[in-house]
Amino acid sequence: MTPVNIDDMRKAARRRLPKIFFDYIDGGAFGEATMRANREDFARYRLEQSVLTGVDAADLSTTYLGTRHALPFMLGPVGFLGLYAGNGEMKATKAAHAAGIPLCLSTFSIASLADLHAETGADLHFQLYILKDRGLCAELLRTAEDAGVDTLHLTVDTAVTAVRERDVRNGFRSLERLTPGLLLSMARRPRWCLDMARAGTPKVGMLRERPAFGGNILQQAANLSRNIDKTLCWRDVEWLRRNWKGKLVIKGVLSAADALSARKHGADAVVVSNHGGRQLDGASSTIAALPAIREAVGPEMGVMIDGGFRRGSDIVKALALGADGVMLGRAYTYGLAASGRPGVERVIALLRDEIEITLTLMGLASVDALKRKGRAALTDAGGRLRAPVR
Ligand SMILES: Cc1cc2nc3c(=O)[nH]c(=O)nc-3n(C[C@H](O)[C@H](O)[C@H](O)COP(=O)(O)O)c2cc1C
Repeated sequence: MTPVNIDDMRKAARRRLPKIFFDYIDGGAFGEATMRANREDFARYRLEQSVLTGVDAADLSTTYLGTRHALPFMLGPVGFLGLYAGNGEMKATKAAHAAGIPLCLSTFSIASLADLHAETGADLHFQLYILKDRGLCAELLRTAEDAGVDTLHLTVDTAVTAVRERDVRNGFRSLERLTPGLLLSMARRPRWCLDMARAGTPKVGMLRERPAFGGNILQQAANLSRNIDKTLCWRDVEWLRRNWKGKLVIKGVLSAADALSARKHGADAVVVSNHGGRQLDGASSTIAALPAIREAVGPEMGVMIDGGFRRGSDIVKALALGADGVMLGRAYTYGLAASGRPGVERVIALLRDEIEITLTLMGLASVDALKRKGRAALTDAGGRLRAPVR
């Protein structure tokens, strides 16, 4: 059955993927309260309906991170796309490119930036974790530059990896070799096994020349995680600013004070993010944090947002509250896991159609018109206030 929304796509992904991987994607930190809040807090806002406006098809193109794109959302960094579908990074990149939007490649990827760039010519961003090994870090920056990357996302909300209890239960946390549990979980999904077998043995793309990080992907992932610099501070952002000529985006900001610090230390933009509720459980939802951050940094600084976006109307609400654009995480990952490139394309098409219908019923001819209208396009859940209460 064709998935008619992202939740259907999630169910299709669950049927296709080994349970261990599905739970890794789907789960959050500890009690998953922040992950749930990311979804639930969209209901704090209602959309303003406006009739008889003569609006036909809405123009969804808009500008974020300094470039005009066909759609107000892009594909954000998700580690190990190539484990959820064979050559997953390539498939997702091609889907994004065909839709006229960028994909941000995670540090934890199987495909290399160079291969993706050479085969697709797509608009690629790169997500960096600052590693203790600054030499490797500098090498990664050069690789990104060579692959035509002009926007670097520095992820800053992973000083320590939170416990994701589904992974603990599945025996997937800090796993460094194949275990009977993992093998059994994989054997139960023969179609996935076949797809992966065709793609060849997965390894972390950027560690091809670094045997010291381990011989299999599990060891590489574990060693790379251990190499993430836990003592990272704003001085390191300055180091990065000096060593990266392109646009610098700080991903993982949830307060106005941190957004202002990002600007002070040379960032061009922030991503309002709590890592999809996978890190600080109990932290604010991103949609609740967004208005204060936009208010603090003013209209000039770039503000992106991610966390819980599964509906076109979620995206419309974020744009009305001051985001320049939205980054998808699990939504497109479900599509990829469900059916590869067509699955990602379907996710993009579903969200595009939902946004277009939503804007038309709001009497708005374009995403830019929505951005100009801003909070006046929303009311609170009681339907009375134009500027929503925080
Ligand atoms: C399976 C998975 C892997 C992720 N890997 C990374 C990563 O490597 N780097 C990163 O900055 N964020 C990573 N994220 C976080 C996403 O970029 C994003 O912040 C989050 O998924 C947004 O929430 P959503 O999935 O509810 O849309 C990952 C998220 C998931 C679900």
